[in-house]
Amino acid sequence: MKEISLHILDIMQNSVTANADLIELIVIEDEENDILSFSVKDNGKGMSEELLASVTDPFTTGRTTRKVGLGIPLLKHACELTGGGISIKSKLGEGTLITASFVYSNIDRQPLGNMSETMHQLITSFEDVDFIYSHKVGDKEFFVDTREFKKILGGVSFKENSVSLWILEYLKEGEAELYN
Ligand SMILES: Nc1ncnc2c1ncn2[C@@H]1O[C@H](COP(=O)(O)OP(=O)(O)OP(=O)(O)O)[C@@H](O)[C@H]1O
Ligand SMILES: [Mg+2]
Repeated sequence: MKEISLHILDIMQNSVTANADLIELIVIEDEENDILSFSVKDNGKGMSEELLASVTDPFTTGRTTRKVGLGIPLLKHACELTGGGISIKSKLGEGTLITASFVYSNIDRQPLGNMSETMHQLITSFEDVDFIYSHKVGDKEFFVDTREFKKILGGVSFKENSVSLWILEYLKEGEAELYN
């Protein structure tokens, strides 16, 4: 994967697949401490200890019968290439928290990618899921809670063209402010 936003998309899609209806993403660009990190917290079905062990360390068993995919191992690899890593906390029936950190200045760190398009895609594709999104760059923060959008829209779909466009513009402007 070329961009961190694609990992974020994959990790958040896992949360949707796990039937979460509230997913919280926090992205922190902390150049001062040389860390770029993100965390995804969901209230989905969670993982058993056995599954948790196999997703974090998928290649150690030597078996070829593994049924899980590559989303998490790819993220782990990308983090570790920079000197960072991932941590996963999960409880069956409660939810999952995945944190990924990258060494900001490392030559192998992927660019963050397009966060406004990533969030727009998630928000408009999975309307029944509520998203909380916080993006911090240094001292600045952009914060979105789609439950606020829903209150304002009073039942109008995020897929409605004008609404979808408005959400995209809102995200783009918020993101742009972070780098001003
Ligand atoms: N947030 C989550 N909640 C519950 N289970 C999860 C969560 N994230 C991952 N899992 C479990 O871990 C497995 C591995 O996830 P991973 O993203 O590595 O692969 P995948 O989603 O199965 O396939 P791929 O991402 O390659 O399409 C998932 O199949 C799922 O069983
Ligand atoms: Mg996946």
